[in-house]
Amino acid sequence: TAEYRIAAIPGDGIGPEVLEVGMEVLDAAVEALGSSRLEFQILPWGSEYYLQNGRMMPEDALDILKGFDAIYLGAIGDPRVPDHVSLELLLDIRKGFDQYVNIRPVKLLAGVDSPVKLKPDAVVDFVVIRENTEGEYSRLGGRFKAGTADEVAIQTSIFTRKGTERVIRYAFDLARRRAEEGIARPGGPRPMVTNCTKSNALNYSMVFWDEIYDAVAAEYPDVHRDKALVDALTMWLVRQPEYYDVIVGSNLFADIITDLCAAIQGGMGVAAGGNINPERAYPSMFEPIHGSAPKHKGKNKANPVATIWAGSMMLEHLGDTAAARLVMTAVEAVLAEGKCRTYDLGGRSSTTEVGEAVKKTIRARGDALLRA
Ligand code: IPM
Ligand code: MN
Repeated sequence: TAEYRIAAIPGDGIGPEVLEVGMEVLDAAVEALGSSRLEFQILPWGSEYYLQNGRMMPEDALDILKGFDAIYLGAIGDPRVPDHVSLELLLDIRKGFDQYVNIRPVKLLAGVDSPVKLKPDAVVDFVVIRENTEGEYSRLGGRFKAGTADEVAIQTSIFTRKGTERVIRYAFDLARRRAEEGIARPGGPRPMVTNCTKSNALNYSMVFWDEIYDAVAAEYPDVHRDKALVDALTMWLVRQPEYYDVIVGSNLFADIITDLCAAIQGGMGVAAGGNINPERAYPSMFEPIHGSAPKHKGKNKANPVATIWAGSMMLEHLGDTAAARLVMTAVEAVLAEGKCRTYDLGGRSSTTEVGEAVKKTIRARGDALLRA
């Protein structure tokens, strides 16, 4: 059986609690199926590390991480460290490992209610592909005439042809794959890639983005085109989330809409993401998209589902599809039963109780699968 080496970065706040449950659940799944072996190495980086060492992770962090098959991250952020400093950890790994695709599935899991009033037959099941290494997050710019009444702050966005094309192409390939595998759900034209843009106002960057979208789309005549200005898209996502299949957006726009999408799918407690380097030149990183929720730290209260889901995406990426599916089947079975869920989903269970329930279901289903 394959053995995968995974760098686990628990991070700050509730990160360690949810990641611990995530690791246990993944272990339970691969053990139940005997499909692979996971070796987690815990890397104690984050804000505590910063307070002691003046940096979020060691200088050679990327060299250390390079040797792993994947990275499993809890959460980053601590009130004692400015956000723009602590979040460098995340952005440095995304950029340093050329994880240019941030994949964020938006799916209403069995047993989870959406705050959005859905039509009776509507199925919410789409994916947001976020450009993850450039655009508005290029961190270039400066402050001029600092402290004077004439001060100017400039934040530059960078959109390269290569960087834009490759992420849009990934979105089209994904839409095709979803249709071929029969995963794409009806609700709108399928397969379809929605271009999340703002080319009416951003006359250089987004006009360029649109041109590249059109050029790539021309190579995929079987995939429907759809164009939505990001402001209008926020409205349509609430009114008709079932319409979407794959949405592709720039770093900032897709960051914003994926929080909205998280709300649509039941909240930040159930929203997961993967930071992918599709060429596999570097390890990819999987994380819940929520933050570190410092006020819930140590209370065994946070919902581990987002982290477990991110772990399932990691197993899928590593190649253990059977274990990845078993994990999500178990999560959905537990949620659908309705007896064990955290406060954010209207329940009273703790982080570890949800973890135990999912592991128990995994073992029971794993046995049944092996016997079949
Ligand atoms: C996310 C987060 C990060 C981002 C922050 C923490 C820098 O909001 O993963 O969506 O903006 O990318
Ligand atoms: Mn975000």
